[in-house]
Amino acid sequence: MESIHNTLFVGKFVYHFESLPSTNAFAQELVSKSKPSEGTVISASFQTEGRGQLGSRWESAAAENIMLSIVFYPTFLMPYEQFELNRIIALAVRDTLQIYVTTSVKIKWPNDIYVNEKKICGILIQNTLQTNGIQSSIVGIGINVNQLNFSEEASKATSVILQTKQKHDLVPIQENLCQNIEARYLQLKTRKFAPIHKDYLLHLYRFEEWHIYKRVCDNHTFKGKIIDINNEGCLEILFENNEIESFNLKEVQFL
Ligand code: BTN
Repeated sequence: MESIHNTLFVGKFVYHFESLPSTNAFAQELVSKSKPSEGTVISASFQTEGRGQLGSRWESAAAENIMLSIVFYPTFLMPYEQFELNRIIALAVRDTLQIYVTTSVKIKWPNDIYVNEKKICGILIQNTLQTNGIQSSIVGIGINVNQLNFSEEASKATSVILQTKQKHDLVPIQENLCQNIEARYLQLKTRKFAPIHKDYLLHLYRFEEWHIYKRVCDNHTFKGKIIDINNEGCLEILFENNEIESFNLKEVQFL
C-alpha cells in the first residue's frame, strides 16, 4: 500500500493494482464489504472493463495514464445536492491539469475536462443515496497523460503529452490531484456553495458564448448561450428569442 504526503486524508491509503476490471467497481465492492476510510484511493495501471458515463466504456492504454477512484462519505449533502460534489471534483481536476498545460483548461458540462476543444479527462461519480444524505460516493477519474494515439471513436481525445510535447511522471500529477481534491472537498464541507458555483462558471466551456446545440428529443438544432447551471446541475441555455430552457444530461448535444 502506498500513501500520498501533504494531505490529511485523500490518498493516505492507496491500493494500487497493475490491472483491474474497473477501479470504480473495486471501490464499490470495498465500500460494501469493509467501509474503507474516507479518501482511500484505488488506482490501476490498466483496466479491462473501465467504466465511462452513461454506460459507455473508458479505454486507456496500459501504464500511460491515471486511472483511480476515491471513496467519500458526503453525508453532509442531501441527495438533491449531488451535483455539488461533481462541481468540486471537476474544479480540482481542472486546477491540477492547469499546472501542466499552458492553454486554458475547461470544464465541459457536466464534468468532462477539455483542452483545445478536446477531452483530456473523464469523471464518473457513483453515489449511494439515503433519504437524508449521500451515504457514499465513488469518484472515478481517468486522466490521459502519456498516451499519444487514440482510437477512431475517441477522436476528440487528447492527453497531457499531446498538449505539452513532454512526457510526464504520473506520481506528482496524482499527488497534486489528491491535494486539490482534498482542499475542494473541505471547502464543500463548509456548505458555502456560492464561491464554488462562481469558480465552476469561471472555468465552464462555452460559458456566455453563442454556439450551436441540438435538443435530443426532437433533433431541433438551435443557436444558444449557456448562462447558468442550476442547483440540480441542469444546463440553462438562452435562445436568440430570449427564452431560457434547462437541459438535463442526454437532453442536449453540443455541436
Ligand atoms: C467518462 O465517460 O468520461 C467517464 C470516464 C471515467 C473513467 C474513470 S478511469 C478510473 C475510474 N474507473 C472506471 O471504471 N472509470 C473511472
